[in-house]
Amino acid sequence: MTKAIRIKDLLATTTANDKVIAEGWVRTRRDSKTFSFLEINDGSCMANLQVVADANLPGYDEIQHIPTGAAVRVHGALVESPGAGQRWELHATVVELLGGADADYPLQKKRHTDEFLRTIAHLRVRTNKYGAVARLRSRLSFAVHDFFQRRGFHYVHTPIITGSDCEGAGEMFNVTTLDLNHVPRSDGAVDYQQDFFGKPARLTVSGQLALETYCLGLGKVYCFGPTFRSENSNTSRHMAEFWMIEPEVAFADLAADMDLAQDMVSELTAFALADCAEDLALFSKFVDRTLPARLERIAAGNFQRISYTDAITELQRSGRDFEYKPQWGHDLQTEHERFLCEDLFSCPVFVHDWPAEIKAFYMRMNDDERTVAAMDLLVPGSGELIGGSQREDRLDVLRTRMAAQGLNEADYWWYLDTRRYGSVPHAGFGLGFERLLMLLTGIGNIRDVIPFPRTPKNLEF
Ligand code: 4AD
Ligand code: MG
Repeated sequence: MTKAIRIKDLLATTTANDKVIAEGWVRTRRDSKTFSFLEINDGSCMANLQVVADANLPGYDEIQHIPTGAAVRVHGALVESPGAGQRWELHATVVELLGGADADYPLQKKRHTDEFLRTIAHLRVRTNKYGAVARLRSRLSFAVHDFFQRRGFHYVHTPIITGSDCEGAGEMFNVTTLDLNHVPRSDGAVDYQQDFFGKPARLTVSGQLALETYCLGLGKVYCFGPTFRSENSNTSRHMAEFWMIEPEVAFADLAADMDLAQDMVSELTAFALADCAEDLALFSKFVDRTLPARLERIAAGNFQRISYTDAITELQRSGRDFEYKPQWGHDLQTEHERFLCEDLFSCPVFVHDWPAEIKAFYMRMNDDERTVAAMDLLVPGSGELIGGSQREDRLDVLRTRMAAQGLNEADYWWYLDTRRYGSVPHAGFGLGFERLLMLLTGIGNIRDVIPFPRTPKNLEF
């Protein structure tokens, strides 16, 4: 049996071919007196293949009733299309109906709201927009690995179940096999001795701490995996489960860290523009018309850097009536982030050297003893895309910071070991993969750039 050819390849052929097979799902069907026209899509690209079925075909009665959403295999001849909009069409000799579609198939009409499509996340990939998101996500995952592998980084699989809290923020999901209806107790507290690991276990919020240990042996490493946070914030930029890319580089400082982050974001943007042009064109047309110009500027490496202290000064003298007054020592609010990267600079902005009190224990203390060598990359639309830092490589300073934040050294003995044996300056960052997809598509809700979003009170699929 001849194999089916992907529609992407059929549409890119240069010569007619009188014997091909295509498979896909019917997007629309319209009938004239003498023909049925089926638009079929197989997910290989955005474009549909037009199938022309002559009324004289055997089984035409059935063909005439093939509904939207059905799956078909079509045998026939690929010929130049007289119609506008496509170079090729498939003149069917046989149309096999592989799977029908009930009349209540929800994707009958052309456009649906994103809110509605979220309720049918198992079907939305069959629309142009969500197909484009899915292809972009896949190609970009490949490009992330390619970016790091070409630079000699080693890919490390950090654990998903963990015994330590990387960010120290306590926003973690517990992992347990204890019977929650009969939790064993000893001295009034949960007796974790009886749990699977004999101690509390959680889903990771970041691979960083484990990754650092590999960095201090392999030099340049990265991880790319699912990350979990139980922060109960129902925003358009947060999910309970998201994917994070984290590089970690030995013998590197904060400036090198920002250089790497900038190269990564601009190269991945250039990759998307070149590799995913057909899919990006949809976002430019239907989601955000300003997208192409913005992405071109990012691909060209148009970034800014400003210290946290200077950023606070700029915010204070902006004359804006912010809901939260910008104040040294406080975290930046969304409205502040937007001002910096959409109004003050209108490009991605690194904010570096943050107050120590509002940042994690592992960030390197600066000589002023008030700020740490940390950076956030803020981007138009999706806000904080990257959080990173140079790491505290001095054992004594690290222990002081851990004590100040109430962390138990015994839980981090292996982390402290790396500062005892061959400690060197090193730095890294975490990039939220969905935030990057928001930047590249202009899509405003993070739930629409991941196949099955997990958010508070929402675990449908
Ligand atoms: O800034 P964060 O918390 O940094 C870390 O976890 C570091 N340990 C990373 C490192 O240095 N290796 O998170 C990094 C990025 C954020 O900038 C954001 O893009 C994304 O992860 N992120 C989220 N994305 C979706 N939903 C959430 N709830 C997110 N929380 C963080
Ligand atoms: Mg952060």
